[in-house]
Amino acid sequence: MADMLDWTSADSEKLDIATYEKRAEEMAGRLREETSAGRLPFLTMPYMAKLKQELADLKERFKGFDHMLLLGIGGSALGARALQKAFFPQQDQPDHTCPCLWIADNVDAYALEAYLAKLDPTKTIVVTVSKSGGTIETVGQYFILKEWAQKHLGDAWTKHMLLVTDEEKGFLRGEANKHGIHALPVPDHLGGRYSVLSAVGLIPAAFMGIDIDALVEGAREIVGPLTEDNLSGKVLEQHSAFQLAAWAAALQDKGFDEMIFFAYIPLWASFGDWFAQLWAESLGKEGKGSQPIPAIGVTDQHSVNQMFMDGIRNKACLFLTCPNLPAGPRFPADLPDQFDYVRNKDFGELIQAEALGTRMALSQNGVPLVEMRMGEDGPKQAGKLIALLGTATILTGWLMGINPLDQPAVELGKRLAKARMNADGLEEEKADLNNFLTADRDIREF
Ligand code: PA5
Repeated sequence: MADMLDWTSADSEKLDIATYEKRAEEMAGRLREETSAGRLPFLTMPYMAKLKQELADLKERFKGFDHMLLLGIGGSALGARALQKAFFPQQDQPDHTCPCLWIADNVDAYALEAYLAKLDPTKTIVVTVSKSGGTIETVGQYFILKEWAQKHLGDAWTKHMLLVTDEEKGFLRGEANKHGIHALPVPDHLGGRYSVLSAVGLIPAAFMGIDIDALVEGAREIVGPLTEDNLSGKVLEQHSAFQLAAWAAALQDKGFDEMIFFAYIPLWASFGDWFAQLWAESLGKEGKGSQPIPAIGVTDQHSVNQMFMDGIRNKACLFLTCPNLPAGPRFPADLPDQFDYVRNKDFGELIQAEALGTRMALSQNGVPLVEMRMGEDGPKQAGKLIALLGTATILTGWLMGINPLDQPAVELGKRLAKARMNADGLEEEKADLNNFLTADRDIREF
């Protein structure tokens, strides 16, 4: 079954999409320029052949390990988790023993203590993923795991480490060089949230035995036409990524400033968190953008759906489905009459009916919606989804007139936290903190 976008409920006729469609030629020119200058490796993937070779070698090495502990945050972790939840569900099932992937993407002392106490160092490989090599949440955990590995493994500790970081710069690259730790590069110009199909996401994928070729093949199907030297506006206009971008930009003009990502492929729910970061960090700029809202079908029908249906009419929706999900067990024949409508039916029919019901209801309640209907729920389709949404995000940003590849506004909080820890310099931040903490505060016991 083919993968489809269903635009029937997109409410396109109520939006001024034409304004953005007219810019297809300009956007095609920009894509040509950026790809030929090597600034969009998300699309061109020039690193892939070498990476696949390295992954093949690593897979042999991984056979000696039961556990992979991935240290990373944001774009250095969310793609890996989405792949894990989608294609390695056995780890969450009752009879699973090993291999196991653990993702440490927070400053969570409980979790870190548990890893230190319960993981067998001789059977664990620690993968530290940080493009900048300076993210304290990640590097801080690296320091602690390094000490742990050295204590338990002596000189062999470096064999239990893998680094994924900038090819030349940063603290982690220095660690690789100093200790001879195997390190794979995050290519230049490949920001964290666009990096799942690089060493960042594919190393954990290889550890879990996920079909990397299929992921990449799916992505290439989407990005292939966009990386042609002679890409024209006419071709771009027909491309789903551009059509989604024009729709998203036009929605914002009409006050639709929230974008739901409603996943009715339960195992793919974590793509919602991946999408949320992609969309928010890329597009939340200069007072513009739409707030991504990840939601899980059907779980969130019994949670946030009331707000989607009847709250502020500012929401649009990307609605992810797959009619080809497993049928699951059958409902018994001897059900009470009250439930006769499911008698002898497959459990899997229920999610399809609920997806249809919610999709229709959202649409009837004025939520512009595009259904992303995947023919299958395999890695090839996931690769397509990753590439489609990543490209659509970049194009939406360009149409909005912002840079979708940076995230400058997140720096302030990081600098203030560092000032709080008394990092060198940051005198202005330290003074601001002092003012903040010493100002009269309105604090009430509850
Ligand atoms: O998308 C991004 O660029 C960010 O979310 C980063 O992935 C995140 O801040 C982690 O950065 P780094 O990989 O440099 O540790």
